[in-house]
Amino acid sequence: CGIVGYAGCRPALNIVVDGLRRLEYRGYDSAGVAIVDGEGDLVTEKRAGKLANLEKALAEDGATGLAAGMTGIGHTRWATHGGPTDRNAHPHRSADGRVAVIHNGILENFARLRAELEAEGVEFTSETDTECAAHLLAAELGHLTEHTDPAERLAEAMRRVCRRLEGAFTLLAVDNLAPGAVVGARRNSPLVVGCGEGENYLASDVSAFIEHTRDAIELGQDQVVLITPEGVSVTDFHGTPVEGTRFHIDWDASAAEKGGYDSFMAKEIDEQPQAVADTLLGRHTENGDLTLDEVRLTDQDLRDVDKVFIVACGTSFHTGMVAKYAIEHWTRIPCEVELASEFRYRDPVLDRSTLVVAISQSGETMDTLMALRHAKEQKARVLAICNTNGSTIPRESDAVLYTHCGPEIAVASTKAFLTQLVACYLVGLHLAQVRGVMYADEVGAVLAQLSEMPAKIQTVLDAMEPVRELARDLADAKSVLFIGRHVGYPVALEGALKLKELAYMHAEGFAAGELKHGPIALIDEGTPVVCVVPSARGRGVLNDKIVSNIQEVRARGARTIVIAEEGDDAVAPYADHLIYVPRTPTLLAPLVTTVPLQVMAGEIATARGNDVDQPRNLAKSVTVE
Ligand code: G6P
Repeated sequence: CGIVGYAGCRPALNIVVDGLRRLEYRGYDSAGVAIVDGEGDLVTEKRAGKLANLEKALAEDGATGLAAGMTGIGHTRWATHGGPTDRNAHPHRSADGRVAVIHNGILENFARLRAELEAEGVEFTSETDTECAAHLLAAELGHLTEHTDPAERLAEAMRRVCRRLEGAFTLLAVDNLAPGAVVGARRNSPLVVGCGEGENYLASDVSAFIEHTRDAIELGQDQVVLITPEGVSVTDFHGTPVEGTRFHIDWDASAAEKGGYDSFMAKEIDEQPQAVADTLLGRHTENGDLTLDEVRLTDQDLRDVDKVFIVACGTSFHTGMVAKYAIEHWTRIPCEVELASEFRYRDPVLDRSTLVVAISQSGETMDTLMALRHAKEQKARVLAICNTNGSTIPRESDAVLYTHCGPEIAVASTKAFLTQLVACYLVGLHLAQVRGVMYADEVGAVLAQLSEMPAKIQTVLDAMEPVRELARDLADAKSVLFIGRHVGYPVALEGALKLKELAYMHAEGFAAGELKHGPIALIDEGTPVVCVVPSARGRGVLNDKIVSNIQEVRARGARTIVIAEEGDDAVAPYADHLIYVPRTPTLLAPLVTTVPLQVMAGEIATARGNDVDQPRNLAKSVTVE
């Protein structure tokens, strides 16, 4: 879910709704706002569906009562408890109407709390867990009659409520008796503070307020924050003041705009050459040593590593699968990749000499965070690869390498994937260098190859018209299969995932060699099969093998769409459609071979009339397990 809060000297409604628009990628099942005006009136408006529905309702109502208030909160929802209806949309009010609460996360003891409240005679109006928090907050406020400062009273009531809650949550609340104050609380769910002049903000991430201020504060776990126009104060759940960590946001605000493109995704695909270049920038010192961003690990710790685990979800998991090939090849350390949601439940063998690499664009994915925490409990070292400063996963890791791709807004990940790959290559090279497995000149040679990648990605992008045309032709296909070998295998999985996410089409990726052990039975006359072909040089044997696999599917009627390296003539006779990408060293090839698959999925989705930026049922950052 996306959350925004504002306390300041300007009308809050527009600021909150604009913030929600920038956070809508975090959930778009429903949206709502609550505004308090100077007279102490608290008005809410909420609607099922996308933010546009709420905006329409606000326009129709003439926004009476809402327009004047200078304190407000807003929410865009990714439904957990209770379906995406008007009633279940946030904010939720207490029975007396005094407070309004928005929430991201899941309150695990909600059934018990609800039963208690109902026994006391409280009537619930929604099926959400959040409504409990609203009633509890109103009750605590009712008890706190000794407080003279209404804002402080609201913060204290929130602390008391938080002490009773279990699970993960970010909560924001306003109280009509405390105009000018917004209180926030967080446990295992994201919340950052934006500090302005005579106004302050709360949000799930900085993109909500980046057009107003670049000064932000990171909050820790189990903290309550109170914002007023004049200031920000942070305490733990017991009221002990704590100092948040200040940071400056260097993202360009225009990075979060579509800038003339039809969709954020189209723009983000086009930004990939720059994003890869930015992620490589300034990574080595004068004497050629690679540097990570925040390292709370010594070189000796890295020399002691005898096993690497990569944990991640979704597209980031596919990055990890590619990284395994590179890390093992360069460092000779065994490396396993695991879905973060499975990791801790399997009781993996971890100790002080295990390095766990957590890959997450958002830095907030709950499955990945929980895997990381499990690893830390078992004394493993944790390195995060992340795109979001101030997010939880890098905060809790021993070392961080940031990808510098700027904000990724489209729900389906594109530029984050490519920059995560770059970050993983850098980690592999750094490990190999520190451990003395690769000499500086060998590392330098790979870095030189990496530095050529932005131009190669641009070459791919410049030749996408035939891919778009082909995509429109595939828009009615029932199912599309993807095959690849070596690093082409995760690329095949990523190609299939993009198509599922965006086009809502059945798509599967397979290791090409595995096809004959079952999936080949899926092939029918005309079934499109996308084949990601490894370089004919270097690991030439793989190329021969996949050429055979292409022949096998073709013999059974498949329509083959082949992605191969320029000059690879061997595949041409078996390709119904041939897409060439520039020659690239095998391990780095996913940086170019993925791009046509992203473009293809986007184009098929558009042809099918889907919203490519906000595909149904998905959210960009999933902060529940
Ligand atoms: C969600 C998104 C995916 C993303 C995954 C992991 O499911 O819809 O696009 O790959 O989360 O996100 P992360 O932020 O951890 O990389």
